Amino acid sequence: MSKWIEVVELNKIPVLGSRLIKTRDMDIAVFRGSDDQVFAIRDACPHKGGPLSQGIMHGTSVTCPLHNWKIDLTSGNALAPDNGCSNVFPVKVEGGKVYLQLVIEEAPA
Ligand code: FES
Repeated sequence: MSKWIEVVELNKIPVLGSRLIKTRDMDIAVFRGSDDQVFAIRDACPHKGGPLSQGIMHGTSVTCPLHNWKIDLTSGNALAPDNGCSNVFPVKVEGGKVYLQLVIEEAPA
C-alpha cells in the first residue's frame, strides 16, 4: 500500500537545493526548484551511486558531484550521452509542507 507522508516543510529546503530524507530502505533527496516545484529522487547516482543531494541543481536537472553526470529529476534518467536511471518518487506540496508517496508495508496482524 502506498501512502502520502509529510517529510519536511517547503521553506526548510533551500531554493535550488535539497534536503535528504532517510527512510528505512533508502535515502531520498527532495529538491526545490526556483519556482518551488519539488522533485524526489533516490540519493544515488545511476553511475556509481554518488550523492545526488550534494549536486548542483539547474532547471529540472541535477549534476552529480562525483563525475558530473546530469540527471533529469522528473524521470530519474541520466541525460545523454550518459545512460542510466535512478528511482524518482511522487512528491507534492500542500499547505507549505512536502509530502512523499511511499510504499508502506502493512503491519502484521
Ligand atoms: S557517481 Fe554520479 S557521475 Fe559518477
